[in-house]
This record gives sequence, structure tokens and C-alpha cells, in this order.
Amino acid sequence: MKTAGHAVQRSLEICERAKQRIPGVTQLLSRRPTRAALGVSPIYAERAKGCVIWDVDGNEYVDWMSGVGPIILGYADEAVDEAVREQIGRGSISTLVSEQSVELAEALVRLIPSAEMVRYAKGGGEACAIAVRIARGVTGRDKVLFCGYHGWHDWYLAANLGGEKLGEHLLPGIEPIGVPRCLEGTALPFNYGDLNLLEDLLKKFEGQAGCIIMEPMRSAEPPPGFLKGVRDLATRYGVVLIFDEVSSGFRVALGGAQEYTGVTPDLSVFAKAISNGYPMAAVVGRREFMEPASRMFISSAYWDDNIGIAAALATLRELERRQAPAYFEKLGEDFRQRIDRAALAMGLDAACTGVAAHPGISFRGLEPATLRQVHTLFIQENARRGVILPPGLFFNCAHDQTALERTEEAVRQSFAIIKEGLVRGELDQLLECPPQEDLFRRMVT
Ligand SMILES: Cc1ncc(COP(=O)(O)O)c(C=O)c1O
Repeated sequence: MKTAGHAVQRSLEICERAKQRIPGVTQLLSRRPTRAALGVSPIYAERAKGCVIWDVDGNEYVDWMSGVGPIILGYADEAVDEAVREQIGRGSISTLVSEQSVELAEALVRLIPSAEMVRYAKGGGEACAIAVRIARGVTGRDKVLFCGYHGWHDWYLAANLGGEKLGEHLLPGIEPIGVPRCLEGTALPFNYGDLNLLEDLLKKFEGQAGCIIMEPMRSAEPPPGFLKGVRDLATRYGVVLIFDEVSSGFRVALGGAQEYTGVTPDLSVFAKAISNGYPMAAVVGRREFMEPASRMFISSAYWDDNIGIAAALATLRELERRQAPAYFEKLGEDFRQRIDRAALAMGLDAACTGVAAHPGISFRGLEPATLRQVHTLFIQENARRGVILPPGLFFNCAHDQTALERTEEAVRQSFAIIKEGLVRGELDQLLECPPQEDLFRRMVT
């Protein structure tokens, strides 16, 4: 079944060097080699263009991860890169700020329902920390009710002080090492879809809870009435509602999940896809909540960087011009049909699930341990066939018919191998790597 010539020897050698010098090997958890099929999946890229990545071993891959979300137009997009080159020529940052920073704020206000004023940052987690700071500052209340993943900062990881709470929102097994113990009880999770639990928390901590921060949606359509219910509760209990649109932003609609669902939060956070691969993030929101931020100490040198701003302006312009959400919708329908057809042909209980513009792939009816083996085998067999495709994925505008065709062919073969492994009880033998890691504790040792 092996594809002749597929080897990632050089990737593995560089990885050995990295282990000596870079704790954890990569900066983003999702890029850690242990999260993929270690030994078969590529680790180090030589270059990327459109929806294709070439690794340091000379292998070529159709990539469906889009840089784990930031790439929305395609790698090395000509329009964005030209805007960046032009900006480099005029200086990336200076003692003064640029008119473009105001233009970008105006563009975001035009596109995003909750936006009346805008602040910038460079990363998603950082921008979430700013939004939480603003909400705490405006309300004078410390407790944060949250749902979903919001980055690496103390305010969020504090949830795991005094007992694990992040298992369902981030990863199981995270120890809040280095997070001040005095933050215990300041970050309280609620489950997506559970309005009763949220209301219980709001009642219990009335006068103490400053905000609700949540991912409005990922792949799945929100349960009917859920977001509207959260909005009503936030208003009734006088807490600031923050939508973290770092992953949902710009894919289902240019105005984010809030435009798609018609529910408008008080503050929102955008990052990743906002600038097609150049560091950039934005906190946007209603004037009454954003204006007080001018009196809070929220300040950093590179937040005025013009490269990210130029990239974001060009990205937003191109997303509108190429009608990206409609394209993803169409692409997603095609993708779904191909994945479902492959599953049916191979007799595997798998399907493409979630909204068309941002779907995932689900393998059904499996125990967690078996599922982990199946996910790893899927990644392994796809990689061997020149496709980077885990069960969670992000579309970009460079995904085209050729990418779809190559992927369908690879997925058919991967599904056939998985089916064989399941029927014969031989997943172990088919895996050429340890199962994909999901326990953080084991990854950091
Ligand atoms: C919803 C959400 N919030 C926050 C973050 C953190 O963003 P960053 O990795 O840019 O700090 C992510 C990253 O995946 C995310 O998906």
C-alpha cells in the first residue's frame, strides 16, 4: 500500500535537533509532530503555495489544514503578498501610526455586526485576554464564564486550578503550571448548548460575573435558539457577551458566526484568517464597551505593526471580491459528497459533518481508544498519498477541483485500509507510528 518514494527522513532529523533546543518542538500545540502520524507525516515545510505544501524531503501535499486556520485565500496569495511587499518598502513600523490602521478599523466596522470600535493585537489568545480585560474593566467584576478554547493565558488556564475543568474545552490533562493559585475560581466553564447551566452560574455569581466568552460555533450549526438564549441571559444579568471568532471568523460569513446566526455580542475577537498568514488580531465591539478601553492599560509596540494591517486590509478586500463564504459553501458541498461517497464505497461508518463552509470528518460508533487509532491511521495513510487531512480542517480559496480529486482518491484508499483494520482487528499492525497524542501531560515530558 506504500506510495513509492514517500519518506520524511529529513523532517525526522530536523525534529531530533529541535528536541535539543526547542521545548515542545513547535510553538503551537497543533503543529507538534506527536499530534499527527509521527514518522510518516511531514513535519518541516520547505514552501507552500495555494493549497499545496512541499516538505523538506521533497514531498508534495494537498493541504486541508490551511496553516491550522490562518490561511483563507491560499498560501502565498499574490494580492496579499503584494500589499505586504509594498508596505515593507514603506517601512513595517515607525514612530508614528498609519492611516491604514484607521482604514482597517473602518473596514471591520462595516463587515462585523458587533463592531463600532476596534483594537488590534497579534494573536488570538492575546486578543481574548484583551477582551476579557476590557469586560472586567467595564463591569468591575472578576469572574469569567466561558465555553470553548481561548488561548494560553492565565485568565483561561485558571479554570484548571483546584480541579480539571478544561478537559472538554481544550484538552484533558492540562496542569495549570505557573498560573497563580490566587486565580482559582475566577474562570468557570459552561457546556455548549446548556442554557440552564449558564443561567445557574449567572444566578450563583450574580454581581461577580463580568463576562461570558464563548466560541459561537465551530463546525456544527448551533442548537436552535442557543446563541439567542445566551444573548438574552447576558443582557438580563448585565454581563458582557464576548464571541471568540478566532476560528469561526470570515469562513461561514465575512461578518463571522454573528452575521451567520444573527446574534450580536457586545465584544468579539478575530485573528487567524483576518490576514491570510501575517500576524494580526482584532478586538471589536460596541462603543460603550470599547471606549473605556482607552483608559485601561492595554498597550504593546507591535500592535501598530503595518504589515499585519496591510495584510488584513488586502485579505478582507480579496475575501469580498472572491465572495469567499459562498465559495466555501460550494466547495464544502462538493467535499462532503466526495467524502461520503468514499465512505459508502468502502463500507465505513464515516461522514463529512458540520456546516458546508467549515466541515469536519467523523468516524462513528468507535470507542475513544479505537477512534484515536483510526484518526492516526487516517492521517498516516493520507500523508502517504500526498494529502494533509486530519478529521478537523479549514478550507481556503485555493482549494480547487484538482485538490478535491486528489483528495477523494487518497481518502478512498485510506478508508479502505481503516475498514480492513477495523474488520480484522488489526489497527495496531497498520499503524506505523504511535497513536496521535492528545494527553498534554505526556506531550510535554
Ligand atoms: C477560538 C480560538 N480562540 C483563541 C485561539 C488562540 O489563538 P492563537 O493561537 O492565535 O493565540 C484559537 C486558536 O486556535 C481559537 O481557535
